[in-house]
Amino acid sequence: VPLQPCNTFGIVARAQTLVRVRSVADLQQLLADQALARGPFFVLGGGSNIVLTGDVKPTVLKMEIKGLRLVEQTERAWIVEAGAGEVWHDCVAWTLAQGFAGLENLALIPGTVGASPVQNIGAYGVELQDRFESLDAVDLITGQSFTLDAAQCAFGYRDSVFKHAPSPAQGQGGLPRGMGLAGRAVITHVRFRLPRPWKPVLGYLELERRRAEAGVDQPTAQQIFDWVCDIRRAKLPDPAVVGNAGSFFKNPTVTPEQCADIIARDPKIVHYPMPDGSIKLAAGWLIDACGWKGKSVGKAGVYEKQALVLVNRGQGADSVTGGEVMTLARAIQTSVYERFGIRLEPEPVVV
Ligand code: EPU
Repeated sequence: VPLQPCNTFGIVARAQTLVRVRSVADLQQLLADQALARGPFFVLGGGSNIVLTGDVKPTVLKMEIKGLRLVEQTERAWIVEAGAGEVWHDCVAWTLAQGFAGLENLALIPGTVGASPVQNIGAYGVELQDRFESLDAVDLITGQSFTLDAAQCAFGYRDSVFKHAPSPAQGQGGLPRGMGLAGRAVITHVRFRLPRPWKPVLGYLELERRRAEAGVDQPTAQQIFDWVCDIRRAKLPDPAVVGNAGSFFKNPTVTPEQCADIIARDPKIVHYPMPDGSIKLAAGWLIDACGWKGKSVGKAGVYEKQALVLVNRGQGADSVTGGEVMTLARAIQTSVYERFGIRLEPEPVVV
């Protein structure tokens, strides 16, 4: 099965077996099948956060469970549930159209609802964990459904329990506990808690600039949604036009001492203090400072408007390979390390 249409980088690769999952019953049927149930599995949503470096041998589960509904309404919040296969941006737009605000800062992030908790997507001052209520998943070994709350998901910066491999100590039986559910469980539904009354999140510089330009004091959620869409369209490539997987590296954190050291040499470095006392650096700035913006290695390129995004400079059958992407990524890591002494960590899952 060709996977090129299933990954936003547009990398050419194949899956030995691909199963489309449209319901929890589909999953249970699959797990009841002697031949298929053995796994291993690779769970695929919108394919917007992966780099395929070869053909995929595990059985690919293409998550296509649909559904958007209000499940609970209290004075303090709307609780909305979405199927894992819903397109993330459509889910954001739907909640706003229904009058349930709160996801607007996360507009236009590529991918599906089911993928959103995996890497705890975030943008413009809001992370998924800030709007998360709970999720349903199916254990791929036992076939059992289970529910996780935010603490059990172990959210971190672009991180969750679903990004870590199970440890051997976790064993095969019973409900998975502790760290590591990658390849072990698949998310089927996600519930969001959208607080009432709604409050805008405007701290982000570019949003503040838009608010000032518009001359409004209290923007509506729809306005913020429109601004976020504008900002993203202006500096992030549309994967439908130029293949990419969003930010390719995580923004690194350093100690205040390390940061002072770098500032002494590079006074213009972009840095943000974190609540825990550490300092977050803008990886895009570091890569840009090393002169990578707009550069290419083979058919892998560094986007000209945002150095944190690696892009596919090929098309169709002549697309970039995962190997070329990783070669470019390593070259970037090396030059950032040599200049700043900082190791950049890839953000997408390398398959
Ligand atoms: N910068 C440069 N040169 C560049 C790119 C950025 O100097 O080529 C500077 C910018 O001027 C800015 C700073 O770096 O001062 C930060 O850049 P930006 O605001 O574009 O955000 P980012 O830190 O690069 C993060 C997320 C994005 C998210 C934006 C907005 C990560 C890895 N990336 O990017 O998330 O949309 O903030 O909140 O945390 C993603 O994860 O795939 C993603 C796109």
